[in-house]
This record gives sequence, structure tokens and C-alpha cells, in this order.
Amino acid sequence: MATMESLIGLVNKIQRACTVLGDHGGEGMSLWEALPTVAVVGGQSSGKSSVLESVVGRDFLPRGSGIVTRRPLVLQLHKIEGQSEYAEFLHASKKRFTDFEAVRKEIADETDRITGKTKQISNVPIHLSIYSPNVVNLTLIDLPGLTKVAIEGQQESIVEDIEMMVRSYVEKPNCIILAISPANQDIATSDAIKLAREVDPTGERTFAVLTKLDIMDKGTNALDVLEGRAYKLQHPWVGIVNRSQADINKQVNMMSARQKEQEYFESSPEYGHLAHKMGSEYLAKLLSQHLEVVIRQRIPSIIALINKTIDELNAELDRIGRPIGVDGGAQLYTILEMCRAFDRIFREHLD
Ligand code: GDP
Ligand code: NA
Ligand code: MG
Repeated sequence: MATMESLIGLVNKIQRACTVLGDHGGEGMSLWEALPTVAVVGGQSSGKSSVLESVVGRDFLPRGSGIVTRRPLVLQLHKIEGQSEYAEFLHASKKRFTDFEAVRKEIADETDRITGKTKQISNVPIHLSIYSPNVVNLTLIDLPGLTKVAIEGQQESIVEDIEMMVRSYVEKPNCIILAISPANQDIATSDAIKLAREVDPTGERTFAVLTKLDIMDKGTNALDVLEGRAYKLQHPWVGIVNRSQADINKQVNMMSARQKEQEYFESSPEYGHLAHKMGSEYLAKLLSQHLEVVIRQRIPSIIALINKTIDELNAELDRIGRPIGVDGGAQLYTILEMCRAFDRIFREHLD
């Protein structure tokens, strides 16, 4: 029997296959939608991209003050054996990126290709896969931040446009919500919590993250929030210290950032007793564990969907006639074979 780790890896492969080949799930819920993803939600500059990077353990996302993330980024992490780490974009799938600075530049360039060098946004997602021995298998989605007012160079409708875009991801029942709130703002004003509560009233798929603990007003602390007294959720709050803008400018790397974060919690008079449940690495672990639970619950419905897909593909192949030619039919046949393989493997996990 395969391990749960490889099961999640398999789910990633199905998601990617569905993206590449087009979704053949037919009417109703598609295969892609049956599989879990994680999306970050929060106000602009609350630290969403920074949190995603920390979870991945790699520097590759454009970050900074103002509206930096302007298209959804669908990021698939694939754990591989061996040391050579690389990334691939769906829009340039022949090219293997080993330099993550170049990945960051390609995200920025690809964003501009659709929106121009503006402050406007686009719904069209960028698909990126990272293959690495140092990641947990996850699909993550980085999203533009929720805002309150349109700024110079933006259409008046941008506030609603962004909210609708974010909502379209987080309202799906398979979406695990990483709700990011900065600790230097009152939690009662958090856009992330407001939206998460709307689309997930029971809080079963919401993970609340409190960033910027290091820059709270002197004399205040976030214990009420982190210990669940201010706003209790099903899953515990996780406090995070990301790199500051000064750190980014000085190009402080991920490893030293994580180490600094850990030291921050361990040496903190307020948060010391919570140190083992705080920080980016802990958040990554928590997410991965939750994902395993969710996938285990979903296996029967995933099998049902795969079988429905097999039936539909068989019907379509009958219609266009077998044996199949080189073009459309061959592709369908590939998907069919893949579905059969997935079906076999998922069934093993039912025992
Ligand atoms: P996003 O707009 O929500 O994606 O936020 P970014 O990740 O791009 O971060 C916005 C700005 O806030 C950047 O200048 C970061 O350096 C800074 N920032 C994010 N998280 C923290 C944090 O925990 N502490 C400090 N001091 N700065 C942070
Ligand atoms: Na920002
Ligand atoms: Mg961002």
C-alpha cells in the first residue's frame, strides 16, 4: 500500500493532468473541484505572499507594499526524491527553472503580459509547479489582496472585482482557507476573517494566521487572539513573523528568516509558551496533516468521479469510433488510461 504522502502526490498529478488536458469531469462537480486546494485570503499587504513562500520554504514570489499580486497564482508543490529542485510554468512548460529568482521574474512578467505594467488585476490564473525534496505536497493559490478603495490607475469596480475573484476560489467546499490578518491591525477589522466566516461559517476549512507580530504597538500583544479568546475558530490560530520590507531589501534568505522567526517565538516573554505551535514550519505541517485527513474522507467520492469520467470517456470513444486516430482520440485515450490507473490506486487506499 502506498503512503499517504504518495497519495497526495497522486492527487497533485491528477489536478495537473486535468489542467493540462482539460477537465473531462462532465456535468456537475468536476474532478478538479473534488480535490483539496489551499488559498490565501487577506487584505492588501497583510503578508499573504510572504506566508505562502514560508510554507513552501523557497523564495520565488513577488512581494512588497502596494498591489503586487495581480493575478491568481495556482502553485502545485510536488515532493520529489533527490536534490535537484526545479519549477515549471504551464504557459512555458518546456522550460525548467532552477533559479528561483528567475521564477519570481517570470511571475511578474507573465502578470504584466495580461495586465500591462498597471495596478489592474486579471482573473486569468498563472499555473506554476515546484518539484523539490524540501516541500510538502500541496496545491496553494496566491491571490490579490482585498482592498477598500480604488487607487489612482484602477477602475472604480476594483474593490468588488477583487472580492468576487477571491470569493470564487474560497467559496468552493474543497478550498482550505488560509485567512491572513496582520497583528498590527484590530482583528475586528480583518477582511480575511470576515470573508472566511461568510463562506465557511463553521470554520472547518479555515486556518487563521496572524502575521506581523514583530511590529505590534509597544505594550500590546496578541495573546487574546492566539489563544482563541478574541475570535475562536475550529482550528487554532498560528502566529507568524515574516521578513520585513527592510529584510527583503537586504535579501535576507529563507533559512535565516525561519531561524529568526523561531528565535523570536522561543525568546519571547509573551509567546514563549506557545513557541512549538507558532511559525511557518508549524503552519506547513498543520496544513499537510489537515490535507491528508480531507483526502482520506474524499477517496470514495473521488473514485465515483473517476468512474463517471471513465464512463463518459468510453462513451465518447465509442461515438468517435475505435481504434482511434492520432489526434483528439489519442488524447482521450490517454486520459482514460490515466483514470483507470488512478482508480486502481485509490481503491487500494480504501482498505
Ligand atoms: P501581500 O500583499 O498580502 O501578499 O503581502 P506581502 O507578502 O507582499 O508583504 C507585504 C509587506 O509586508 C512586505 O513589505 C513584507 O516585507 C511585509 N511583511 C509581511 N509580513 C510581515 C511580518 O510578519 N513582519 C514584518 N515586519 N513585515 C511583514
Ligand atoms: Na502587497
Ligand atoms: Mg501578494
